[in-house]
Amino acid sequence: MSFFILFFLLHLHNFFQLSFSQTLPPNTTGYACDFNQTATSCQTYAFFRAMGPNQLDLASISDLFSVSRPMIAKPSNLTSLTSPLSPNQSLFIPLTCTCNLVNTTTYLSYAKINYTIKAGDTFYIVSTNLFHNLTTYQSVEIVNPTLVPINLTIGQDVIFPIFCKCPTKTQLQNNVNYLISYVFQPFDTISSIALIFGSSRNSIVEVNGDHIKPWDTVFVPVSRLPELAQPPPTSVLSGSKSDRKGEVIGLGIGVGVCGVLLILMGGFWAYRETLWKQRVGKNKGDVERKETKVGVSVMMADVSECLDKYKVYRIEELNEATHGFDERCVIQGSVFKGCIDGKLYAIKRMKWNAFEELKILQKVNHGNLVMLEGFCIDSDDANCYLVYEYLENGSLYTRLHDNETEKLSWKARLRIAVDIANGLQYIHEHTIPRVVHKDIKTSNILLDSQMRAKIANFGLAKSGCNAITMHIVGTQGYIAPEYLSDGIVSTKMDVFSFGVVLLELISGREAVDEEGKALWVEAYAKFSGDEESQKHMLKGFIDDAILNESCLVDNVMKVMSIAVACLHKDPSKRPSMVDIVYALCKSDDLFTDISEDGFSPRQVFAR
Ligand SMILES: *[C@@H]1O[C@H](CO)[C@@H](O)[C@H](O)[C@H]1NC(C)=O
Ligand SMILES: *[C@@H]1O[C@H](CO)[C@@H](O)[C@H](O)[C@H]1NC(C)=O
Ligand SMILES: *[C@@H]1O[C@H](CO)[C@@H](O)[C@H](O)[C@H]1NC(C)=O
Ligand SMILES: *[C@@H]1O[C@H](CO)[C@@H](O)[C@H](O)[C@H]1NC(C)=O
Ligand SMILES: *[C@@H]1O[C@H](CO)[C@@H](O)[C@H](O)[C@H]1NC(C)=O
Ligand SMILES: *[C@@H]1O[C@H](CO)[C@@H](O)[C@H](O)[C@H]1NC(C)=O
Ligand SMILES: *[C@@H]1O[C@H](CO)[C@@H](O)[C@H](O)[C@H]1NC(C)=O
Ligand SMILES: *[C@@H]1O[C@H](CO)[C@@H](O)[C@H](O)[C@H]1NC(C)=O
Repeated sequence: MSFFILFFLLHLHNFFQLSFSQTLPPNTTGYACDFNQTATSCQTYAFFRAMGPNQLDLASISDLFSVSRPMIAKPSNLTSLTSPLSPNQSLFIPLTCTCNLVNTTTYLSYAKINYTIKAGDTFYIVSTNLFHNLTTYQSVEIVNPTLVPINLTIGQDVIFPIFCKCPTKTQLQNNVNYLISYVFQPFDTISSIALIFGSSRNSIVEVNGDHIKPWDTVFVPVSRLPELAQPPPTSVLSGSKSDRKGEVIGLGIGVGVCGVLLILMGGFWAYRETLWKQRVGKNKGDVERKETKVGVSVMMADVSECLDKYKVYRIEELNEATHGFDERCVIQGSVFKGCIDGKLYAIKRMKWNAFEELKILQKVNHGNLVMLEGFCIDSDDANCYLVYEYLENGSLYTRLHDNETEKLSWKARLRIAVDIANGLQYIHEHTIPRVVHKDIKTSNILLDSQMRAKIANFGLAKSGCNAITMHIVGTQGYIAPEYLSDGIVSTKMDVFSFGVVLLELISGREAVDEEGKALWVEAYAKFSGDEESQKHMLKGFIDDAILNESCLVDNVMKVMSIAVACLHKDPSKRPSMVDIVYALCKSDDLFTDISEDGFSPRQVFAR
């Protein structure tokens, strides 16, 4: 009896579902939403096939939908942001879907995409050719009631309503988390769509009815975004080849490092777990002991490469050296000054992400990079310590901006610029795979007793995970615009930051002023015009402390033009570090005299 009732109810349920969708056939003006039944806004995706000839690169598609490339690459399982796409390559475009009141009675569900009208565009052409029928010209007209479709002007902004739907409360309860927008193709059947998305024919019919015509938008209910099988990225089309290679490698490493980190964390967790268990009680079974061994050996295998190259310190040694990490020993942040066997060191305390820095530093060895002497793992409080050479003269930031220190002369500044450029050139050109520092700024440049500069803090370097996660790291005022907007990691982002450091050396001003204005914005506006007016402005820009040095302005002007070149908005137009080293050394004839190592510290300070 109860079975029968259940059976009946199920049928009744299906019947209502079907009749509901059949009374509301999909139509060309858009897809209605019930304002009270669905979330007012949700994140969803549209399925999009890249088609030629203008849409075979990720950049043009991300521009079209006003999202960043990583935001498409990640859900679409793409590993490269720059490789050309293959014809018909499938992508998932992220959309912010909303339920909008278009007139007093009608709510339509769509994502608003801004589009600027170009020559030859009509609502119809843009909807069918560019947006591949994810919207219709009728719907564009409804959403833009003030525009006259037959009288569009070039440059006019139009909202294109990309069809989408948010799941209702009932759907969410039934584990339908996304309704993916898919344009029904002439060769499609409902079953073939179900196959692409790992959904079922019935669930698609439940949402869309079964009178689906070609070019209708179908909303495919899924609990999670299916993973797309992508062809391997093809070779790079054009442009500055070596640079693009850098980006691709950066990304590859990112994924690699993330993997390693995960393993490390896992290993470490197992290790700590057992330490704890050993403390709590010793009666542990064999099984658990085996697990521990695996954990620790995974961890040690990873560190092992570093073992022969670096000294491994005991935590007691470091405690003693820093008087128990006393506040008075703090150099800056979590970096402490410590004395071990009569020699000074800088000891950096960090959480487990130290391994990224460790793995990079063991690959690099250059006079203009701060040298790592050893490390220490303290399993008790999950800290890791990196022990570096100690540099007497602190950071360039303090030297430039702290009024209590003696001001640097122009020659010393130029020397420092060349040192940094040499260090960067080394990590960009001579490491395999190449390293991008990602956080070049004056507080990460340290000065030794001879006022020679060394690059420090590789903590963010190569953590290329960010290249796809959109998690922006770096420091305000130094970050390259393309990294901020698209999360693109390349050696050219270091070039940009280096340009900002040059500006600080010239002006003695900070990268960001008290009002939060970036120095580079002002400098770029002032110094990318004609030369005569620039020279005049330069006098107002140069640091007062060096203004009285003889024969200065022409020389500073040359460095300023290098800085401006580094700040170019288009990363591919920025010079490489090799060009910069060359240009800097050439910028001052006198400079060749002091570029040899016989540079006396007395010349360092401005009078
Ligand atoms: C179809 O269009 C009519 C008005 O033309 C609208 O009232 C109705 O809600 C639309 N149907 C759907 C399913 O969006
Ligand atoms: C939503 O519900 C409120 C009451 O809860 C009602 O006044 C309103 O008319 C409803 N709106 C729509 C569009 O159904
Ligand atoms: C892409 O899809 C279209 C149909 O939409 C088909 O005619 C064409 O041959 C496909 N191209 C490739 C390279 O698969
Ligand atoms: C609202 O828009 C729909 C089309 O989307 C149209 O059919 C309907 O007549 C409009 N209602 C009013 C009151 O303008
Ligand atoms: C779209 O354009 C409008 C006005 O032109 C603007 O207010 C809005 O911020 C733009 N939206 C996006 C996502 O760019
Ligand atoms: C969009 O639909 C039209 C028919 O309305 C069709 O001719 C066109 O090929 C479709 N566009 C794409 C990109 O599929
Ligand atoms: C077309 O638009 C322009 C300005 O946008 C306006 O001056 C002109 O009157 C319009 N013509 C018609 C026929 O609406
Ligand atoms: C995602 O892409 C990678 C490589 O690009 C591939 O190995 C993997 O199989 C893809 N995932 C699926 C589900 O196809």
